[in-house]
Amino acid sequence: MDYALSRRMGQMRPSAVRQILKVTEQPEMISFAGGLPAPECFPVAEIAQCAQRVLGEAGPQALQYAVTEGFGPLREKFAAEMQSRGVACAAENILITSGSQQALDLIAKVLLDPGDCVLTESPTYLAAIQAFQSYEARFVSVRMDEWGLVPEALEEAIRRERPKLLYVIPNFQNPSGITLAVERRRAIYDLALRHRIVIVEDDPYGKLRYRGTEIPPIAAMDQEGIVLYISTVSKTITPGLRVGWVAGHPTLLRSLVIAKQAADLHTSNLDQRIVDRYLGDFDGEAHIGKIRTLYGVRFALMEQCLTEAMPDGYSWTHPDGGMFLWVSAPEGVDAGAMLLQAIERKVVFVPGRDFFPDSSDCRHFRLNFSNATEEKIRVGITRLAEVARLALQGVGG
Ligand SMILES: Cc1ncc(COP(=O)(O)O)c(C=O)c1O
Repeated sequence: MDYALSRRMGQMRPSAVRQILKVTEQPEMISFAGGLPAPECFPVAEIAQCAQRVLGEAGPQALQYAVTEGFGPLREKFAAEMQSRGVACAAENILITSGSQQALDLIAKVLLDPGDCVLTESPTYLAAIQAFQSYEARFVSVRMDEWGLVPEALEEAIRRERPKLLYVIPNFQNPSGITLAVERRRAIYDLALRHRIVIVEDDPYGKLRYRGTEIPPIAAMDQEGIVLYISTVSKTITPGLRVGWVAGHPTLLRSLVIAKQAADLHTSNLDQRIVDRYLGDFDGEAHIGKIRTLYGVRFALMEQCLTEAMPDGYSWTHPDGGMFLWVSAPEGVDAGAMLLQAIERKVVFVPGRDFFPDSSDCRHFRLNFSNATEEKIRVGITRLAEVARLALQGVGG
């Protein structure tokens, strides 16, 4: 059967990460590819207790259909979380979503017409590209440096492209690990306000800082309702419970609620109540403290192994938190070709190409350090360095 798919499917690409994850199932493979949290940090026993309490105390209600906006007590907890991040926020400013991935989809559905321009960092989160692509957005990526998005480049892109949305991941960005500097947050907010552009501030990693001091989100500056801030419990509790949220102006939230009704009616009632119990009954902050410590150790080890083993010409970012670092290879190296050699040596990473909306870049790749044990980091980086050396021979290095 020759299926007549929609026009928009012609623009959509499969996720490179999901494809590579299939390879990681091979025995002996060491993966720095997925964006996976450390499973040993999942609070399994606590979640089991929460599920039992929820079902014991509110069984039928927890298994019933529920309102689209989200479970009231959990909306309040997320609003309090926003306040602790310096954002003026009440429960009515919160929409609970099925992971923050759904928030991206709903925002695109509500704000984008085919051909509308979305400005992104360069590189950016590839599943955000996928989400915006389904609504036939036009992407323009804006230059970054080690302090994040460059305001002058942003201003130039705004004047040229007349965008509708700016999408930023300000803390320990996926894929680069870079954090947007505080003064740039102000400059970017001012520009967006002046040009009436909605900022989508995607912050799944902000709580995972293992060094330095916290920087308030862009949403904390927002008096005008131009920022939609999104976050998730995926990296702080578990991604298996699909619970995220959007914080924003009630007018925009009303449209997002209508879009969500059409998508899934509401986020799993049971999952929301389990998260609510977890945040109410357990010390979530202490738990995040343990995750931070573990990721800090893994990052430091990966950085040390890279410094010791990688040949000259390669460099990488030095994130203060999160789960990823970003490697730059010398000009002429193709990270896609490197991956094929890496698979033969039983180590995988994600080539950078798919993190650029125009797929123009070849010489970068992303390494995840949260999901590999210390032993795997040591062995995996040794294997990677071998591949990096071979790649240099290919370009006469
Ligand atoms: C930047 C960014 N946004 C959104 C998500 C989606 O997370 P979830 O849907 O699990 O909340 C991820 C997941 O890796 C991410 O890295």
